[in-house]
Amino acid sequence: MTVCDYKPGLEGIPATQSSISHVDGQQGILEYRGIRIEDLAQHSTFLETSYLLIWGGLPTKTELEEFEHGIRHHRRLKYRIRDMMKCFPEGGHPMDALQACAAALGLFYSKRALNDPLYIQNAVVRLMAKIPTMVAAFQLMRKGNDPVQPRDDLDYAANFLYMLNEQEPDPLAARIFDICLTLHAEHTINASTFSAMVTASTLTDPYAVVASAVGTLAGPLHGGANEEVIDMLEAIGSVENVRPYIDQCIKEKRRIMGFGHRVYKVKDPRANILQKLAEQLFEKFGTDEYYEIALELEQVVTERLGAKGVYPNVDFYSGLVYRRLGIPTDLFTPVFAIARVAGWLAHWKEQIRENRIFRPTQIYTGSHDQKYVALHERP
Ligand code: ACO
Repeated sequence: MTVCDYKPGLEGIPATQSSISHVDGQQGILEYRGIRIEDLAQHSTFLETSYLLIWGGLPTKTELEEFEHGIRHHRRLKYRIRDMMKCFPEGGHPMDALQACAAALGLFYSKRALNDPLYIQNAVVRLMAKIPTMVAAFQLMRKGNDPVQPRDDLDYAANFLYMLNEQEPDPLAARIFDICLTLHAEHTINASTFSAMVTASTLTDPYAVVASAVGTLAGPLHGGANEEVIDMLEAIGSVENVRPYIDQCIKEKRRIMGFGHRVYKVKDPRANILQKLAEQLFEKFGTDEYYEIALELEQVVTERLGAKGVYPNVDFYSGLVYRRLGIPTDLFTPVFAIARVAGWLAHWKEQIRENRIFRPTQIYTGSHDQKYVALHERP
């Protein structure tokens, strides 16, 4: 390999073949298993979409009912997981708590039967069922409260909001949250999914796969950007400050959070849907003080950086939706993880079916034939 072949960040280098999702970054199209994201957001539910992603086709009525039933049945956490969580520092980031809990599940289900369809199905159901409970439990426990038990009569999204806020959510809020989960469920070979695939390629267990992806999603250039968007809107503080803020960012070559994407060079289709969802929430529950700032920000960034293909990404409006749903800012990325587990598991399943361990090469830039210098002889 020559230096010319090297692409930092593997930009444009195919690392796998996949039939799970497709992005057309020039036209702003996202499809899951060939179905447009707009169609899924309007007509499907998060669990149905997850089934589609993981098993490759839309479920029959019976298949969907069985999947939903399995998830309801596995929502509760083991006492030992809850006891472990009690030892976590309240000030720690919920993504770290989630990563630890996801990995800890592997301690309970250590049999690694990757050729057994039942093992795969159970792992999928357990992870999808328990991850929302972990996120909600950490939120209550860090406030000194006992976690709320999941409610079997509530669907996936409504149950999460119920466990988090300790009250049954408004049906519109629950439906909008469910759409948010659908929008975040999968997005080709992004950093956390790649991380999941690399881990999966060692044929370790799916709990380690998800834990490794959670760790990757946490970073501010990936899932963590939605939290930073809110911090940025707060720092800007007013519509009048938007222009000077953007000028300063451009001058100092600072990234504007919630903008730009490796693949999309137009506005992310999910950002369009999220913006509409935010507006529906504002109409019913009152507006958000940051919305006007966000609108101005989009306009100014588009004006200044649109020529470089820098437009709002999925993280730009999702934070405003989550704020209106009463989700604390540092839970935005864990909420992203709740959704993305579906995509990670779909890629896990695809990876182990025709596995080859990921082992890329590198271009060595260090020295050779150096002599070892004893400690007492070093300057
Ligand atoms: N703010 C300002 N300028 C930007 C931004 C931004 N957010 N994003 C890209 N640019 C500029 C770059 O400075 C670069 O300009 P140059 O050619 O003059 O040097 C040009 O646009 C191309 O950018 P790249 O760095 O090549 O884009 P890359 O694909 O490496 O980065 C990334 C993509 C990491 C998402 C970047 O856009 C970014 O840091 N965005 C802010 C963080 C963010 O919102 N992350 C969430 C992404 S979505 C997700 O992970 C769920």
